[in-house]
Parts: sequence; structure tokens; C-alpha cells
Amino acid sequence: MPDFAGHVNNFASAAVDLVKVYGSGDTAVRALDGVTAGFPPAAFSAIMGPSGSGKSTLMHCLAGLDTATSGAALLGGKDLTRLSDNTLTRVRRDRIGFVFQAFNLLPTLTAEENILLPLNLAGRRADRAWFRQLVQALGLSPRLAHRPSEMSGGQQQRVALARALVTRPEVIFADEPTGNLDSTSSTDVLNLLRQAVREFGQTIVMVTHDDRAASYADHVVRMADGRVVQAVAA
Ligand SMILES: Nc1ncnc2c1ncn2[C@@H]1O[C@H](COP(=O)(O)OP(=O)(O)OP(=O)(O)O)[C@@H](O)[C@H]1O
Ligand SMILES: [Mg+2]
Repeated sequence: MPDFAGHVNNFASAAVDLVKVYGSGDTAVRALDGVTAGFPPAAFSAIMGPSGSGKSTLMHCLAGLDTATSGAALLGGKDLTRLSDNTLTRVRRDRIGFVFQAFNLLPTLTAEENILLPLNLAGRRADRAWFRQLVQALGLSPRLAHRPSEMSGGQQQRVALARALVTRPEVIFADEPTGNLDSTSSTDVLNLLRQAVREFGQTIVMVTHDDRAASYADHVVRMADGRVVQAVAA
């Protein structure tokens, strides 16, 4: 990528020559082998590649969930690898949203309580109008009093998506968000991700190894063996 360094600030999230080595000596694994990639704002990007190619590792470094061995992981042009643990915790809480394959809802909380949890943890008041708009858009109005065990997988993932959107984060990182869903619920969740980008200007970076899921994205970064092998606009 020519003169990438001069343009990193144009991306909501970007990796610059990112290296991640797990372990050391004979057992060292180079999970990221110099990854440079940018994810534009208000767009839906997908990171694709075979199992073990480094997709989750890249996402974890970009989201400040894991530290890199070298290189930069930028959020809004700021290098997360240079932040203290405390600052990084705040950045994750205040500026990033997460959606995981396993939904990761708290079983004892209702849907509403799960959605509002990040705001409560941050000591922020909910914007009730935004909350209602999200709940409506995600079709969750009749489910707000239900606990996760009383909801289908697709409904649980929609709650997780509302929880990620409610703080209006700069970037939502989603790791195989449709990996545990049947095809109807997958389509549902993928359409909702697209809708969040189109209507709310949300930036989304989704890890998937599913071609069909990636076809919903505006940009696709393909990885193999810890490297970017192709970056294309869909
Ligand atoms: N905590 C860890 N310790 C050691 N090696 C790890 C660790 N996490 C990941 N790896 C290794 O790093 C490489 C990249 O793993 P990663 O989880 O990023 O792949 P992935 O593309 O997300 O795969 P999948 O599609 O199966 O989820 C793999 O070889 C994996 O075994
Ligand atoms: Mg993975």
C-alpha cells in the first residue's frame, strides 16, 4: 500500500506492520507477520481467511484486547499499543463495541439490563430515545424483560448487537457473529449490521470465514498465514 502511513488517520481502525508472536523459542507462533490494513469509517468491513490465519488475533490487537509484539494498532489514528492498561480499559469501554460468536450475555440479566450494561459500567446515563430506536430497529421490543435462556440464538445476538450499539462506539468489532446461528438468523443479523452502517453511520469490522457473510461487507481484507493477501472493496 503506497504511502499508507500518511493516510492512517483516515481510517477508523488500522494496523501498521503489526506483528504478534505467541510463545518463544521453538514453540513460537507468528500469528501476525507484518499486517498493514485500514478499515474506513461508517463502513462494513470483513476480515476473511482460513482457520488459523490470524483473523481473531488481528481483531484482538485492533480492539485493545491483546497486545502486539511490534507495529501499531490504531483507533481513530491513536496507537493503542502505547496506552497504559488503565487508559486502554477506558478506550475499550467507551469507544469500542464487541459482538462475539458466543453472544456473551449475562444469564441473570434481562435483555434490557444486558443492553444497558456497558453504559451502567461506565457510569453513563442511557439516551432513552436512542435505546428505544435501537430496540425497535432490532425487533427487540417484546423481548426486553426476557433472560438469555428464554431467547433464541438470533434474538440473543440481536441483544448483543444492541448492547454494542447503545454506546455509539467508534468501531464495533464482531468475531464470527453468525457462527452459532442458523441461516435465517444469520441473514437477519447480517442485514442488521448493514442497517447500522447505513442508518447510524456505524463502523463495523467483522471477522468471518464464511463467504456469504463477507458478501454483506463493503470491504474485505483476506488473510493467510498471518499476512494480508488481498484487500478489496466489494
Ligand atoms: N493464545 C495463544 N497462544 C498461542 N498461539 C495462539 C494463541 N492464540 C492464537 N494462536 C495461534 O495463532 C494463529 C492465529 O490464530 P487466530 O485465532 O488469530 O486464527 P483465526 O484466523 O481467528 O482462526 P479461526 O478461523 O479458527 O478462528 C494460530 O496458529 C493459533 O494457533
Ligand atoms: Mg478466530
